[in-house]
Amino acid sequence: MMHATKDLFGFDLPAPARPVNVASVPQRSPFRYPGGKTWFIPRLREWLRSRPYKPGLLIEPFAGGGIVSLTAAFEHLTENVLMVELDDEIAAVWDTITSGEGEWLSNQILHFEMSKENALTEIQRIPLSRKEKAFQTIIKNRTLHGGILAAGSGFLKNGEAGKGILSRWYPSTLAKRINDIKYVLPRLRFEQGDAFDILGKHKEDLDAVYFIDPPYTAGGKNAGSRLYTHSSIDHDMLFKICSELAGDFIMTYDNSAEVKNMARKYSLQAKPIPMKNTHHAEMTELVIGRDLSWMDDTARVCESAPEYKVKMPNSPEGM
Ligand SMILES: C[S@@+](CC[C@H](N)C(=O)[O-])C[C@H]1O[C@@H](n2cnc3c(N)ncnc32)[C@H](O)[C@@H]1O
Repeated sequence: MMHATKDLFGFDLPAPARPVNVASVPQRSPFRYPGGKTWFIPRLREWLRSRPYKPGLLIEPFAGGGIVSLTAAFEHLTENVLMVELDDEIAAVWDTITSGEGEWLSNQILHFEMSKENALTEIQRIPLSRKEKAFQTIIKNRTLHGGILAAGSGFLKNGEAGKGILSRWYPSTLAKRINDIKYVLPRLRFEQGDAFDILGKHKEDLDAVYFIDPPYTAGGKNAGSRLYTHSSIDHDMLFKICSELAGDFIMTYDNSAEVKNMARKYSLQAKPIPMKNTHHAEMTELVIGRDLSWMDDTARVCESAPEYKVKMPNSPEGM
């Protein structure tokens, strides 16, 4: 379909945004993470740089692979960064790296002889320490299909270019990414915990900003539930807590009617942003916040609820 270039009054319309070329974003995470937000990085920079002053703290309560936190720390977009994640395997990796054991972890990676047999032996071993659990998690993340750690995930079969189990195993790249994180440790902290507790604890913090990327399970969607060990959350409650935060926040969500309805219920704005999923299919996700005027090139799909009632045929929420 041709894109209309003029609006009803004859003014030029912005060209539709294109998905970000993720190859242009520095990969800093040792994880290949399902639902990873590399595509959001250019927007993250715009959002944080659009603010009148540099925020004191970025909190990422659903950190996963942590690309947003790492980018903020490396590019000094905020003074400090706090990553939070509930999953014990993921947490073991971040704990190990942020407690100064990154070099141990990268040495394990460099000296591991990757084969299906060795990977299986490593994965089935009962880890004797936190750092061993971290190493096991990296092996799983790099050899299981889609990087999915949740129960039921299987080994990569053909992998990239038919290289099977080796296709996502880049030991020196992973070691470098892990070692580089030590340069930002003075301003990067990790806590294993529940996103809701952290949000509650920092609710009054005026100098904090939040990047919130929960598992996409709103409206009974089960895409998110196959990807993560912890995927069941109260989405309405999350919207409520976010709408009460003293600091500014951005949420990313799947572009669905349920999510748009929740945004409207809590007087938040939502804009669609193009991205490519892991199968390289173009789709849109929603960026949600109190004021998305910094995303001027993107049309809003949902504005703050009007003060008056609007009757829309066949649409109870007027969306
Ligand atoms: C969509 S993923 C985040 C992906 C991340 N933004 C990235 O770029 O890699 C959602 C994450 O939330 C975690 N999670 C689920 N429930 C949680 C909770 N109650 N508290 C903290 N983390 C949780 C999951 O383990 C998963 O890693």
